[in-house]
Amino acid sequence: MKALVIGGAGFIGSHLTELLVQTGHHVVALDNLLSGRMSNFNAFKGHPRLQFIQADIRNIDEIRPYFEGIDWVFHLAALADIVPSIENPREYFEINVDGTFNVLECSKKAGVKRLLYAASSSCYGIPDVYPTPETAPICPQHPYALTKFLGEELVMHWEQVYKLPALSLRLFNVFGPKARTTGIYGAVFGVFLTQKLNNKPLTVVGDGSQTRDFTFVKDVARAFLKAAESSISGEIFNVGSGDHYSVNHIVKLLNHDSINIPKRPGEPDATFADVNKIEKMLGFKVETPFEEGVSKLLETINDFKDAPLWEKESIKKATKTWFQYLS
Ligand SMILES: NC(=O)c1ccc[n+]([C@@H]2O[C@H](COP(=O)([O-])OP(=O)(O)OC[C@H]3O[C@@H](n4cnc5c(N)ncnc54)[C@H](O)[C@@H]3O)[C@@H](O)[C@H]2O)c1
Repeated sequence: MKALVIGGAGFIGSHLTELLVQTGHHVVALDNLLSGRMSNFNAFKGHPRLQFIQADIRNIDEIRPYFEGIDWVFHLAALADIVPSIENPREYFEINVDGTFNVLECSKKAGVKRLLYAASSSCYGIPDVYPTPETAPICPQHPYALTKFLGEELVMHWEQVYKLPALSLRLFNVFGPKARTTGIYGAVFGVFLTQKLNNKPLTVVGDGSQTRDFTFVKDVARAFLKAAESSISGEIFNVGSGDHYSVNHIVKLLNHDSINIPKRPGEPDATFADVNKIEKMLGFKVETPFEEGVSKLLETINDFKDAPLWEKESIKKATKTWFQYLS
């Protein structure tokens, strides 16, 4: 198949690109390199079945030609950090919503066979039910969550009205090598590994008993491939590990000192996906146990040497908006 991976130079997109190339598919990876990196392709750079295009999904004329002759479109391009989405919602709407509209219009016009959308479990907000099924109420807590959900609504609408075969995968907390390390305070593993590398204490939010459904990135790439290979359309699937792990457990696995910083409003005490639907309908199940994923990530700890080092005071400054707006 000929696949277009939009956001292909990013964390998840580059693992998906690698899996597609390895399984014999031709890949056009399209990315504007806002947070993606060319170094994410290092392991398979110059592969004859991989082509990289630097383009921006905000510009429909720029991206349109790359949809011609494409079978599968994987749409992973987005702005994906929470705090800047509160401070600058316009850019999030332009990329995550209007950008998704452009991707759908180009896909429709080119008559692609399938479109797979990377949605976010943040649409559930603070769920009442654990494990959380796809039918749980939608309750976005910040503009990032809202724009990702609006993107999903667009995808499902194009599926319904224009019969564009599409699925949406609601990803839970994805972790693994090549995680995004921009200057923005974000996902726990990037923060902790950089602190460990610099021999600084790990900054545990709250008492560390909060849990997350951490899913290893290679498994998430497999879920996208399964979704592309299936003939099912118009469905939304949770992609999770089927379990959840506390931040304190991560601290133990990383075997490093820690300190506690204030708990933040608007964050759930747990995320935990109900994965029955994806298991039954797509036959997908994670293969990498959490502890194995963490040791694979630890093998790449040196990749975090240029990542920003977060400490109690800089985190306080970086999350000021969070405390101001979310409750
Ligand atoms: N990482 C997670 O835990 C997680 C959880 C839920 C959902 N998601 C979703 O999965 C997708 C991938 O996330 P990720 O963690 O790999 O993030 P990432 O930032 O590493 O990847 C996003 C990619 O999109 C590219 N991009 C951004 N704006 C673009 C634009 N205008 N045009 C073209 N490319 C653009 C970036 O350069 C980057 O390479 C995102 O849609 C995100 O919302 C991720």
